[in-house]
Amino acid sequence: MASRTPVLQGKIAIVTGGAQGLGAAVAAELDSEGALVVVADLNGDAAQATAESLSRGESAVCDVRDDAAVAKLVEDVVSRHGTLDIMVANAGIATITPFTEMDFDTWRSVLAVNLDGVFSTVRYAGRAMAASGGGSIITMASITGFAGSPLIAHYAAAKAGVISLTKTAAVELRGKGVRVNAICPGFIGTEMVLDRKAEFEQALGVDDFGAVIAQAQGRMGEVGDVAPLAAFLASERSRFSNGSTFVVDGGMTASLV
Ligand code: NAI
Repeated sequence: MASRTPVLQGKIAIVTGGAQGLGAAVAAELDSEGALVVVADLNGDAAQATAESLSRGESAVCDVRDDAAVAKLVEDVVSRHGTLDIMVANAGIATITPFTEMDFDTWRSVLAVNLDGVFSTVRYAGRAMAASGGGSIITMASITGFAGSPLIAHYAAAKAGVISLTKTAAVELRGKGVRVNAICPGFIGTEMVLDRKAEFEQALGVDDFGAVIAQAQGRMGEVGDVAPLAAFLASERSRFSNGSTFVVDGGMTASLV
């Protein structure tokens, strides 16, 4: 049987927050489809280790809260490789606090990464891609951007902002050949979620957070449930999708009970 040509052969990609979790899985998926992937992360050692696990990986230290650092990341990749075809704005953090007890610094700390960081990432990638004739930008939003999300008001507000920004960027950039789409996962079993299991259980007053999630979405999601969608959105196979939100949540948001 003839083998399939990888759909991202020769493409140049950046994945922010690509050192672990969903970002690392997306980096591996883009790599397996032929892209050269720059794994950009706050954690340089982990980014390097992830990049070394790829067939054509590179790593970069980048804090997406630092607008100038994001500009430099994009500039460096374009000057080294001549282009940027794919940007995955994935870096994100979460903390757990009831809304009424959340202090302003906690609110701002999550907005700084999850919304301001995405603004810088999409803006600089959008500029570079518009100048070079096109590309695909993918934001890692969340189903929390659609619904009330107890204990993570800052996170959910940021994700709602990411969904809005994704649509506006898509509309502004569509004349330049740049598409911008959002992925909205449900609960996926990465460190972000699993490390906070006990905190969620205590704050929600439940014995088993995993059981709560299983009731809502069938089971805990896996990074492999999400990563192939990123490769699809990065490729020309999704050429008629723009400014869209793609939910991957085991049916959680489809159900009222
Ligand atoms: P994770 O905690 O496993 O990985 C996050 C990565 O982002 C880490 O490598 C971390 O070093 C990096 N990072 C954090 N702050 C950064 C900064 N300022 N600059 C650059 N890199 C930074 O988290 P996970 O679960 O892989 O999350 C990835 C994205 O997916 C996030 O945007 C998250 O909000 C989103 N998401 C996650 C879901 C889940 O259930 N795990 C569900 C929906 C969305």
